[in-house]
Amino acid sequence: MLNQDIGQGEGVYISTYGCQMNVNDTERMLSLLEMVNFVPVQTPEQASLIIINSCSVREKPVHKVHSEVGRYKEMKAQNPRLRIGVAGCVAQQEKQKLLKDMPILDFVCGTDAIDQLPEVVARTYQEKKERVVAARFENEKPYAVDTLIRNPGVATFVNIMKGCDNFCTFCVVPFTRGRERSRNLAELVKDIRGLVARGVKEVTLLGQNVNSYKSDCGADFGQLMKALAEDTDIQRIRYTTSHPKDFNQELVDISQKYRSKICDYIHLPAQSGNSEVLKRMNRGYTREEYLEKVRMIREGIPGVVLSTDLIVGFPGETEAQFEDTVSLLREVRYDNIYAFKYSPRPFTKAAKYTEQVSETDKQRRLEVLLDLQRDISFELARDYDNLTLDVLVEAKTNLEGQLQGRSSQNKLVFFYGGG
Ligand code: SAH
Ligand code: SF4
Ligand code: F3S
Repeated sequence: MLNQDIGQGEGVYISTYGCQMNVNDTERMLSLLEMVNFVPVQTPEQASLIIINSCSVREKPVHKVHSEVGRYKEMKAQNPRLRIGVAGCVAQQEKQKLLKDMPILDFVCGTDAIDQLPEVVARTYQEKKERVVAARFENEKPYAVDTLIRNPGVATFVNIMKGCDNFCTFCVVPFTRGRERSRNLAELVKDIRGLVARGVKEVTLLGQNVNSYKSDCGADFGQLMKALAEDTDIQRIRYTTSHPKDFNQELVDISQKYRSKICDYIHLPAQSGNSEVLKRMNRGYTREEYLEKVRMIREGIPGVVLSTDLIVGFPGETEAQFEDTVSLLREVRYDNIYAFKYSPRPFTKAAKYTEQVSETDKQRRLEVLLDLQRDISFELARDYDNLTLDVLVEAKTNLEGQLQGRSSQNKLVFFYGGG
């Protein structure tokens, strides 16, 4: 039985890098640590427990873990009660190596070990101070997890699955999050009903590839959306991330049928506009097939807003192949893009490919995409002139009387009004 007073009312500070999955995991960690009497604080200086929830999708956020831990060296020397740990994808990837590389670290807690966090922290506070590594994958167990949100607000994330089996050749996520596992449909309905009862109006369903959701009862993602729309009183449903290869007509039809609840915004990562590059990325679709999915979505859900992720400088990407990504942007006209320079990752196939693209070429290609997108986004923004939008109010801003919220299309809206 775990001592419920490990934290003794002291502060816990978590810094979060990476995707929404990590944002959600940070919430889970805080909820679990509150149960053993830690109190969330806003700065590391106020804390007796500091956790870095890390990301390893590119090299840059991995460096940030090392520099952030380095910044706490002096604090650690001054405060004998301070414990410092790394969680998230770098923790899962490097395990005990992190303790070896960074002597001031007290523990490492992998992506599948979050439930063990209070116990891990407790062990570091025992008289005989232990340095703990908890980073085993729990792939054999069915995936059951409660959305342990302390104060969920009006809009919140809900994990519907974990892991990824796609093994895109550039991506480390299958190695840091393990095999794909989905939560049971009935449990998700119950979880979301519980959130609604606590005042939640909007949920964002999370998974690395939500379109391959499969409940142990056999239901797929479309059926999950239908069940949530029909059997709960949630007002808005968003989801991310969609994989183009698995996005199907059934989901388009369900999105159209339950349009009042399912938001008009789809993030559909293309990664590249060139079929040869897509093949070497192991994405499972060609440029033409991707464009076909875009047509299907736009035809079925008029007015839907699309965004995407793109990688420039994938190994072997020629100038002509890069131009195909430029033309994809012109053809699809996304509202928004997230573009990245390719970064070689451990364990991945592409890191071993010869013909790595130079940093100069990657930088130039990135700027070309961002410049073009800036123009496209600006032109598309004109469509919103004089438009009336339904907005879910999420917060007050710093300006007196001003509120902010999001439209169904995921547009951030600022306005004055309300009481
Ligand atoms: N599951 C999501 C993506 C998760 S990672 C999907 O399949 O789309 C988020 C984004 O980071 C990816 O879409 C990709 O554009 C980018 N990314 C992943 N690995 C990368 C790498 N090695 N270098 C650069 N960008 C990368
Ligand atoms: Fe990574 Fe591909 Fe899985 Fe997305 S689908 S998490 S890019 S391996
Ligand atoms: Fe990063 Fe892990 Fe998310 S690598 S993008 S935090 S799944």
